[in-house]
Amino acid sequence: MVPSPAEPGEGPSPALLALLEPEPLGELCVLDVGTGSGGLALALAPRCRAVVGVDRDARQIDEARRRAAAAGLASVRFVVGDVEVEEYAPFRPDMVVAHCCMSDAIAARAGRVLQPGRVLAFVAFHTDQWKETGRPSRFAYGEVGIKRLLKRTGFAVEHLAVEREVQTFETVAEGLAAAAGLEARWKADGRWPRYAKFLTEGGRTLTRAHLVVKARKA
Ligand SMILES: C[S@@+](CC[C@H](N)C(=O)[O-])C[C@H]1O[C@@H](n2cnc3c(N)ncnc32)[C@H](O)[C@@H]1O
Repeated sequence: MVPSPAEPGEGPSPALLALLEPEPLGELCVLDVGTGSGGLALALAPRCRAVVGVDRDARQIDEARRRAAAAGLASVRFVVGDVEVEEYAPFRPDMVVAHCCMSDAIAARAGRVLQPGRVLAFVAFHTDQWKETGRPSRFAYGEVGIKRLLKRTGFAVEHLAVEREVQTFETVAEGLAAAAGLEARWKADGRWPRYAKFLTEGGRTLTRAHLVVKARKA
């Protein structure tokens, strides 16, 4: 079990990597959707036949390419693309993975491209993630919702765990300080004033929660 839930940019979840360990990675081409700066793709690359990381953010893809070159990894490549619009067949993946980037459209595309027996594994935001801000991520699912989605898209769930960490505070200032690294982002998306209101009205928590899932194409 991972000691604290993974956040984007903090590196791949050890719990997710452990779920992939029993798979014959050396034979597989793995597609990492919403790869960002490539943390998960780069961690998998030395063990896989090939890894492709796709993200719509060209700057993140540039950074992922820089990291791959610096690490001397030739088995990984990074592509700018929209993983909720494009189909995955051109990448010929044997496995689809995702770290904090999961949606109905992504699961549907994985379901269409993967052969029976192949794996879709991911970390997704749980609907309780930052619930104090009153606004779940559009990539967030609860346990029931993710099970329904995976069934609908042709997968049998082999592993589903919720990783949850609830920070508690004595004061408003402590609560604000705990989210200081998120302040600019939350100010831009409107979460910051809601979180400040939650704290000033007596709330004293900040919740992080993720689903860690491994599913196999039926
Ligand atoms: C929360 S970040 C996670 C990044 C990386 N997987 C990690 O864990 O560090 C979500 C990533 O998904 C990408 N993303 C979101 N929607 C996307 C889409 N429709 N197509 C491609 N990438 C997308 C974003 O650009 C961002 O890099």
